[in-house]
Amino acid sequence: MTTEKTFYLETFGCQMNAHDSEKVIGTLVGEGYRQVENEVDASLILYNTCSIRDKAEQKVFNRLNDYKKLYKSGKRFAVLGCVAQQEGEKIFERAPYVSLVSGSASYRKLPEMLARVEAGENRVTGLDDRQTDETFETELTSRQSPFRAYITIIEGCDKFCAYCVVPYTRGKERSRTSESVLEEARRIIDQGYTEIQLLGQNVNSWKDPEGKRSFAELLAAVGEIAGVRRVRFMTSHPRDFTREIVDVIDSVPTLCDHVHLPVQSGSTRILNQMNREYTRDWYLERISWIKAAKRRIALTTDIIVGFPGETPEEFIETMDMLHDVQYDAVFGFKYSPRPNTPALVMIDSISEEEKARRLDVLLERQHEIQRAININYIGQEMEVMVEGFNTTRNQIMGRSSQYKTVNYTTSSLIAPAVGSYARVRVTGAHPNSLVGEAIL
Ligand code: SAH
Ligand code: SF4
Ligand code: F3S
Repeated sequence: MTTEKTFYLETFGCQMNAHDSEKVIGTLVGEGYRQVENEVDASLILYNTCSIRDKAEQKVFNRLNDYKKLYKSGKRFAVLGCVAQQEGEKIFERAPYVSLVSGSASYRKLPEMLARVEAGENRVTGLDDRQTDETFETELTSRQSPFRAYITIIEGCDKFCAYCVVPYTRGKERSRTSESVLEEARRIIDQGYTEIQLLGQNVNSWKDPEGKRSFAELLAAVGEIAGVRRVRFMTSHPRDFTREIVDVIDSVPTLCDHVHLPVQSGSTRILNQMNREYTRDWYLERISWIKAAKRRIALTTDIIVGFPGETPEEFIETMDMLHDVQYDAVFGFKYSPRPNTPALVMIDSISEEEKARRLDVLLERQHEIQRAININYIGQEMEVMVEGFNTTRNQIMGRSSQYKTVNYTTSSLIAPAVGSYARVRVTGAHPNSLVGEAIL
């Protein structure tokens, strides 16, 4: 009989979750497990889950249902991440074949929890409830991207937007020291990465526990490490967005020309209902700082349509926001009522059809805006980092500093390496991508 321990891990949700999975994989490998490509070959099946909208939550229960018959053959299941923290022990009731339920704030204890599952324990939990002050730092991170390295600088969220599960699923805000972030960044660069993405649900609410650096100073310090070519950061909250951040993008060339600044709504009344703690004008002031920068900084955002009580006029205010800001991309969502959140008691009065209609109208308008913005790039030269290849169309896929997808062709017979940089002249534009030719 083989005693080899194998695991299959599937990840849902945001980049924080994707990066947590990289640390979980590293931890499992450290505990003697080997990663396999599918559920059937694995002795342990893990789902790192997302609960941001109802659809995301349902996905994991569908997966568990699809694979539960494998339990009889001795496989074990683990539910990690935001649904795990939110549902806790209720998961064992709903899916009795699950052996381990752990939220992200308990991953430090994974080796110990895994040992208990291996010893045959059936209901092992790691659930936190906004108690912990600790962050999950490990040298065992198994980075899955060959070109972009993530570093979580702040975990959790203390903002409590009325619609959002994150403060309950990821615990309270806790920042890493700038020294430990810089040390990890240097290590990553030594491994050959050139692009670093700093992560946090509220990345710019990061505060150095040792008081040595502001967030903007941390950005500068990461950007100035020898060997770094690109630094990104996600997701900024308007409330914590300072002018200093724009100044530092202006003065440190490796900081990418891109800010993701979720607005959620263009209506001050709805923003207030959402507990976003800013007004439309306050948000637009931050946008004006970004627009006054020396480089053109691409702007992207998240928007929720159909929040309880959103009137047609208030929705129009959000539509106007698209026109006023001229975003390079918008991630639009229909409001989804979530467990534990304050908005749950507000009447979700807008029908699914009306929410869908508002989202369609919004995204269609945005599509036209992006088409118009991207046409301006035709004829320009830009630096593109190679991310992949489209062999059927004979194109190389990469990203500009502004995070725009650039599909380009080259007359060179040698394919560029993933993670390398190319100079590209833009020859065409679509709403979601640019087309170009390599400058050799
Ligand atoms: N921390 C980030 C966003 C995290 S979640 C911020 O504060 O902006 C990513 C996006 O999901 C949010 O920006 C929001 O637009 C969307 N979202 C969160 N909760 C939602 C809900 N209950 N229904 C619909 N969309 C939601
Ligand atoms: Fe959710 Fe608001 Fe925190 Fe973002 S800031 S994670 S939307 S509670
Ligand atoms: Fe989802 Fe949790 Fe991220 S709810 S979006 S995985 S923080």
